[in-house]
Amino acid sequence: MLHNDDLKFHVDTLRGGGVVALPTETVYGLACLALNKISVQKVFKIKGRPTSNPLIVHVLDFEQAEAISFTNEIAKELAKLFWPGPLTMILPKKPIVPREVTAGLESVAIRSPSHSLFRKVLELTGEPLAAPSANPHSKLSPTTADEVLQAFGKNCPPILDGGKCAFGLESTVLDLTSNIPTILRPGPIAEKELGDFLGAEIKPSSFPSFARGARKSPGLHPKHYAPETPIRLYQNLNSLVKLAPRSKRDVIILPSRKSLPKFGANGSELFVLSNDGNVNEIGQNLYGTLRKADKLHRDKIHISLLDESNGMARAVNDRLRRASF
Ligand code: TXA
Ligand code: MG
Repeated sequence: MLHNDDLKFHVDTLRGGGVVALPTETVYGLACLALNKISVQKVFKIKGRPTSNPLIVHVLDFEQAEAISFTNEIAKELAKLFWPGPLTMILPKKPIVPREVTAGLESVAIRSPSHSLFRKVLELTGEPLAAPSANPHSKLSPTTADEVLQAFGKNCPPILDGGKCAFGLESTVLDLTSNIPTILRPGPIAEKELGDFLGAEIKPSSFPSFARGARKSPGLHPKHYAPETPIRLYQNLNSLVKLAPRSKRDVIILPSRKSLPKFGANGSELFVLSNDGNVNEIGQNLYGTLRKADKLHRDKIHISLLDESNGMARAVNDRLRRASF
């Protein structure tokens, strides 16, 4: 249960230069004052993040984005349509943004989150907040307060509990610094939605081209969001059903409860990601389920890609490919 005191405590901690974990509609974030480089350095330290990987700055509204970046008409229109929400835009940064936040890049990643608690904290703090996902570097992002606590243990910063995140996958990252808007990270807002809106070409992200160097987004390593247990990824549910070994050494993750009858588990541990295959539910449960599967310390986690019917399915597949890379 949340008390107003909790909110005040978190705001005071931030204003005093400290770090707190806050809920967003995508995943929990490790927040600090974006314009205070000492606070930003603390976030990098707690997360164990390479200083070459820039943070996303969270703002209350477009006006706050204009104070820290050189915006343009496309950004303004996109913000009208998709903010507050899970769209991060990369724009040229203004000098006020410390290089610690952007890892020395001349651009800054900005989004306006829709979670009411995060917005309340932004309002009360009165300043933009930098926040990477609240997980140790390269691990699974947390979608509940409890998962943040488990991830950091005794070094955990204070957490504002805002329940389970609605999307469960990180925001779509759209680069607006070059002529053709480019998706750097697929997320809940699909390339098609953005393309339709822009009425123009939009470059999708291409996995695993990141593996071949020249990454535009320094944080998008091909291996990311990974549990400790190796993952074996199948092209589709049919091949998983046909090929996945059933044994005590294996964990099998199915997309839907409905696929259970097809499946003889034979001692392998089974998890399901949704009741009826709803892609949003699958996205919301993905990280939590991978985490539970990981805790069993079996030899392998077997899971299949989804049909890429929409943007959320593409985002899920992107994370699965990274987790199994
Ligand atoms: O949903 C989200 O975006 C969550 C919540 C907390 O807002 N945040 C999140 O942050 O996922 P993080 O730091 O885990 O991922 C940010 C991604 C990284 O891949 C980083 O490399 C990229 O955005 N990024 C940040 N600034 C960038 C820039 N100036 N140019 C290109 N990529 C950038
Ligand atoms: Mg992250």
